[in-house]
This record gives sequence, structure tokens and C-alpha cells, in this order.
Amino acid sequence: MCGIVGYVGRRDGVPIVLEGLHRLEYRGYDSAGLAVVGRSALKVHKAAGKIRALEATLPKRLKGSPCIGHTRWATHGEPSDDNAHPHCDAGGRLAIVHNGIVDNGAELRAELSARGVELRSETDSEVLAHLIAQALPSAGSLEQAVREAVRRVAGTYGLSVVSADHPDRIVVARNGSPVVLGVGEREMFVASDAAALVRHTQQVVYLDDGEIAVLTADGYETSTLDAEPTDKRPDRVGVVPEAYDKGEHAHYMLKEISEQPEAVERTLRGRLDRRFETTHLGGLNLEPRDVLAIRRIKILGCGSGYYAGLSGAHLLETLTRIPTHAEPASEFRYRNPVIEPDVLYIAISQSGETFDTLAAVQEVKRKGGRVLGVINVVGSTIARACDGGIYMHAGPEVSVTSTKTFTCTLVALALLALHIGRVRDLGPADGRRLIEALLALPEQIRQVLGGRDRIAELAARYSQYRHAFFIGRAAGYPAALEGAQKLKEVSYIHAEAYPAAELKHGPLALVSPDTPTVAVLPHDHLLDKSVSSLEEIRARKGPVLGITHAGDARLDALCDDVLHVPRSAPELDPIVLGVPLQLLAYEAAVALGRDVDQPRNLAKSVTVE
Ligand code: G6P
Repeated sequence: MCGIVGYVGRRDGVPIVLEGLHRLEYRGYDSAGLAVVGRSALKVHKAAGKIRALEATLPKRLKGSPCIGHTRWATHGEPSDDNAHPHCDAGGRLAIVHNGIVDNGAELRAELSARGVELRSETDSEVLAHLIAQALPSAGSLEQAVREAVRRVAGTYGLSVVSADHPDRIVVARNGSPVVLGVGEREMFVASDAAALVRHTQQVVYLDDGEIAVLTADGYETSTLDAEPTDKRPDRVGVVPEAYDKGEHAHYMLKEISEQPEAVERTLRGRLDRRFETTHLGGLNLEPRDVLAIRRIKILGCGSGYYAGLSGAHLLETLTRIPTHAEPASEFRYRNPVIEPDVLYIAISQSGETFDTLAAVQEVKRKGGRVLGVINVVGSTIARACDGGIYMHAGPEVSVTSTKTFTCTLVALALLALHIGRVRDLGPADGRRLIEALLALPEQIRQVLGGRDRIAELAARYSQYRHAFFIGRAAGYPAALEGAQKLKEVSYIHAEAYPAAELKHGPLALVSPDTPTVAVLPHDHLLDKSVSSLEEIRARKGPVLGITHAGDARLDALCDDVLHVPRSAPELDPIVLGVPLQLLAYEAAVALGRDVDQPRNLAKSVTVE
């Protein structure tokens, strides 16, 4: 997997595809390549490493249309020139780029080898090129050959195919891995992510699973694997191209951290109901009677989505008094979970494409459960698979690591908690208190962002350590988990989060002057207990950086360094406390000279298992 871009039309496709691939760099990748059809010949160029390395190898005269390109994030076979996409058939007449995983790739490879086909890569994807080429003579058309080939494949694919013998078209197919078509004036585009298209067109068509499309300069035709035509009208993509630009910021991560006040305003916009001190969430598809019937809530997500779920579980349980738990979607989907009709399932995903989260949603739905999505990307696969939900409206997030979408997920979950709470036992006074706290969030986040210089100074110092602990209790613990995750992801400093009281049950053995602790300390009912944990750390001479509120001299004295953030409602404090942790990770990564927006080995949206 990672990124696909394709072009067919009158223009030269090579620069368009290369520019599109650059737009998808943010998703993380380790090799790149392209295939272009010109004067009935197919030319393929690919290289391990960055797109720049590929560009350096391209002949100046390379031109043509159609053209398809790919950035690969290795799953089967190391990053290398041979394993990079596109992959060709034996005769070098057709080329494919593929996102997803061919689950029966090993069997298909063995079968092809037994029939004398020489496989040139270690990938599961290459089999697709050979299967299509073998189907082509009897299939009669490239699209029919693609249909026949993908029928033999178990697994997921977002697939684009070009052939020197069909030089007017790109054939694309989708099963479980996103494919979006861009409709231009006498030209067509294809990509795995609208980010690669928005500079050329705002008119897009999202393919569904089991659909294939034929793109030519004259337009597109979509059909099923049984060759039944499907009726797909273009939608407006709804994102301005500038939203994908870095602007004056050094990195997308910093841009996205800085955008949080406006992003939170967008999550809140039009959703606060001051008359009944509740929230209005148009996409929930939940009647008050349904809300009353909920006995438990289960939140599913991966990575930062899971940590946001842990934080949201606290919030939901506190405000609704409904038992609420979060679980990694990847675990949930494989443990044959019991699905009950009175449990509300919530799937969290920034991209709306994370494969494990999608599979968990499908598992719940298959067993008759009801799932709400908290999703950023409108129209994404998970959003479409859910029964209803809340869009974050955070705007595009380009940096691999989630920042503004983490914050906006918490805000969306707060809106949901308030909604459910007000249908049930939460009184109007609490409703008012929370709405006021929500409205104050953008300004409070702005205040935290205003302290960036001091955070940078602390980060420069703390980035000299090789290991760090993060601690928190109750609502502070998920914030500590996400803080540790951010630091690991972008600075590569080894960081582990613990519930503060658990420190003494094991990890305290590692606390020393060489291992600092970042303590997330909201002023809640557990503050006195957290003070004891700090004492234990101090007794072992462990440096402590406290992230807390002003006004507790005792706490300030126990920390070597303190960052104060404004107080929100106690239920929403983790939202504000999370922001300095994002900046800390960012500034530590900058101090260490890391590739902030594309951390090694990570991808923005993991569309494979
Ligand atoms: C990847 C990213 C993480 C992200 C996770 C879930 O692993 O590197 O930053 O939290 O996917 O992504 P989602 O789009 O489902 O929120």
C-alpha cells in the first residue's frame, strides 16, 4: 500500500502524476515509481527511497498519457527497486499499481511460477499484473481481464492498470482500499486520496468496493465485477487546495497544532443548543428512545484514535453514567466479540480508511449492532459503513501524526456525551456549564500555543534523554498515553505511559536521574494522590516535568519544570492538557533533527491489516 495517482488525457501525464505523488508523500512511503504509455510502448521507472530519487532517474524525454504512479509502504518484501510499483507482466506490455494486500499472494505466486512465469519482485502485488495479462487474450477487453484477475484474488485492492495495447485508458478497481476518480475537462484522474487531485478538479467520484471503472480522456464508466453498469455521479470534494499547503509553517505538524482553535470552532459550529443546554448532532440517526435504551458504550479505534477513545470513554461515562470502554479495533475484530442490541458502538478514525477499524465496524454490523462514526474525512469508507455519526470538520490533516484530529475527536465525543447525557440524567445546569467550557476551548488552546517558545526550550533540554515516562491518573492517563505516543512517533525517544499509581508496582525500578517523567496533572480529586507519586519519583532523583494548572504551590515545588494550562470544565481538562504534549513532541523532534511530518516506518492511514 500507500499512494496511487493516475492521469489520462491530452496533457503529458508524467509531471501531473509526479506532483500528485508529492501530494501523497505525507502518507509515508519508502519507494516510488510510475508507468507511462507513449507511442504504444510502456515505460516503467521505479526506485527505492524518496520521490526525488525516482525523479533523478527519469529520462528528460519521458512523456505520455495514460500515466500511473505509486508510492509504496512496504508490507511484503523490503523497500527496493524491484519491489517498488508499478509491476509488469512478463511481456512488459501492461503495468499495475496496487494498494492493499493479496491474502492468497503466496499461493498465486507458486501457481504462476509452476506455469513458468518469472516473478521479478517479492511482492504480493506482482501477481495481479500476470493474472491480468493471462486473462487478456480471451477476455476481449482490459476491463474484462481485470475483472477476471481480481476474482482470483482474496484480499484488498485499490488497483490501477495501464496497457500498451489499450493506450486510451486506465482501468481501476476497488475492494477495501480507497479509490477516488477526478473528473476534468477532457481528462480524468485517479488517486487513492483526494489530496492528489484537488489542484486539478473539485469533481470527484468515490468508487465502492466491488466496482471497477474505465477512465479515458472522454470520461468514466463504472460497473460491477459482473459487468453491470453502476450509476456514479460526481460529488464536490469540498476542500480547497490551499488546505493542503504548509503556508508559513516549517512543518505540517506545527501547522496542524496551530490550527486547533479554528478546527475546534468548526467541530462546535451549529451544534450547540443554548435553549435546552444540549447539542444538536444532525447525523446521529438516534432518536431519544434509542438513547434511553443504551446500556453500554464501546469505542473502537487504532493508534491515536484508540487513545482518543480511552479519553472519550472517561468523558462519556462521567456525563452519561453509561458504562463505557474503549478497545483497539484490531483486537476487537478478531476475538469474536459478543454484540448486544443495547450497546452503542463508536468507531473513531481520522481518515475513515483504517482497515482494522473498518473491519471492526463491519463485524459489529454483521452481527446486528449499531455503530456511530467519529470521522474527519467526509464520505470515507468507514463513514459510509456506519449507521450515523459526527464529522469532526477539522480540515485535512497531512502530517502522519494526529494532532488536531485527536483534539477534535475529543470535542466531538464531548458533544455526543452532552447529547446523550441531556436525554438521560444530566441536568440543564451541567449542560450550560459544559457548553460554556466548550465555547472557551479555542481561546484556551490559543493561550497554550502562545507558550510555544518556553515549550521549545524545555523540549530542547528533555530531548537529550533517551527514555521518558509519562504518568497520569483517571482522565489524565489517556492524555499521558497520547503524549508518550506523540513523543515516540516523531522524536524516536522511547516513552512509556503509566497510570501514576502503577509506577510503584514495577516501572519505578527504571526511574533515575537519566529518565525524566512527564506528569499530566489536572486539578481533580486525585491530585493529592498524584503528589505522592511525584514524591516517589523525586526520592529516586528522577526529573519531573509537570503539565498542570496554576495555583498549587506544592505541586510546582515538586516538579523540576512546570507548564501551566488554563482550566476547563473538569471533564474537558484533558483536551487542553493534550496541547502542550503535542508541542513538546514536535519541538523535541525538531531539536533532534527528525523528519517530523514523515516519521520513519509510519504511514498516515493504514489500509492494510
Ligand atoms: C496510523 C497513523 C496514526 C493513526 C492511526 C489511526 O497508524 O500513523 O497516527 O492514529 O493510523 O488512523 P485513523 O485515520 O483511523 O484515525
